[in-house]
Amino acid sequence: MYDSLVDANEVLSRFRDATRAAVLDHVPADQTLLDLGCGSGLDAEFFAARGYRVTAIDWSPEMMRQTVARLDRAGLLDRARVVNLGIHEIGDFAPRSFDAAYSDLGPLNCVPDLPSIAQMLSRILRSGGILVASVMGKYSPWEVITYAIKGDWERARLRWTDAAVPVPLHEGTVWTRYYSPRRFRKTFERASFKRVSLRALGLFLPPPYGRPIARTHPRLFRTLAAAERIVGRWPGSCQLGDHFLIVLRRR
Ligand SMILES: C[S@@+](CC[C@H](N)C(=O)[O-])C[C@H]1O[C@@H](n2cnc3c(N)ncnc32)[C@H](O)[C@@H]1O
Repeated sequence: MYDSLVDANEVLSRFRDATRAAVLDHVPADQTLLDLGCGSGLDAEFFAARGYRVTAIDWSPEMMRQTVARLDRAGLLDRARVVNLGIHEIGDFAPRSFDAAYSDLGPLNCVPDLPSIAQMLSRILRSGGILVASVMGKYSPWEVITYAIKGDWERARLRWTDAAVPVPLHEGTVWTRYYSPRRFRKTFERASFKRVSLRALGLFLPPPYGRPIARTHPRLFRTLAAAERIVGRWPGSCQLGDHFLIVLRRR
């Protein structure tokens, strides 16, 4: 169910590729990685297969079950540890346990207290360790335009609050906080991280629910993706997008 929603979505696959590329760029294989909110383990499998030692955590027992089954099928359980743990509980890990951490497609939007997560990450990453985070942003031009055209102003400005917003997902509700890249970065700077890079995801590409464009207009989709890879890093435009991808280094 989860994979059919997430893995088969062309937009989310582009976003995921960006997260993976950032980890591969900044973290040498064979180092230790912490996957924050691993979902069904798509990234845990990807990195374990490339020689990283992965600890994957998620608070959903069902997601844990899917991750273990996936790693088992791939014969990778010796390279990956799967722990049923909330992101807000990562203080349980010993100091400097990991070389790097990543969080793909928004788990950090679901934690109630981001500053305390930043402090805990600062403690459990080694000095110089990397955090790669793909985060749902506050200013999604596509979303605003899409819903403004429909006259649904409430939905168009759903993200423009610092408060948690109830978002329907898989027949349940997830309380979600949307961040501007600036606010997210400052939260982590206060916990001894320094920004390495930032890029927009879903600046020109549509949000994940706009995926039909990938099939109806594949050439346009590829052109938008290529333009986004360049323009999405520019000052100003890197603050926009359905998601943003930020790389931070622990001092
Ligand atoms: C949108 S999914 C992304 C999953 C995965 N990273 C991926 O790329 O497919 C969000 C995941 O974060 C998990 N999650 C949300 N809040 C969490 C928390 N506080 N602690 C641990 N996991 C959490 C959910 O259970 C879900 O599996």
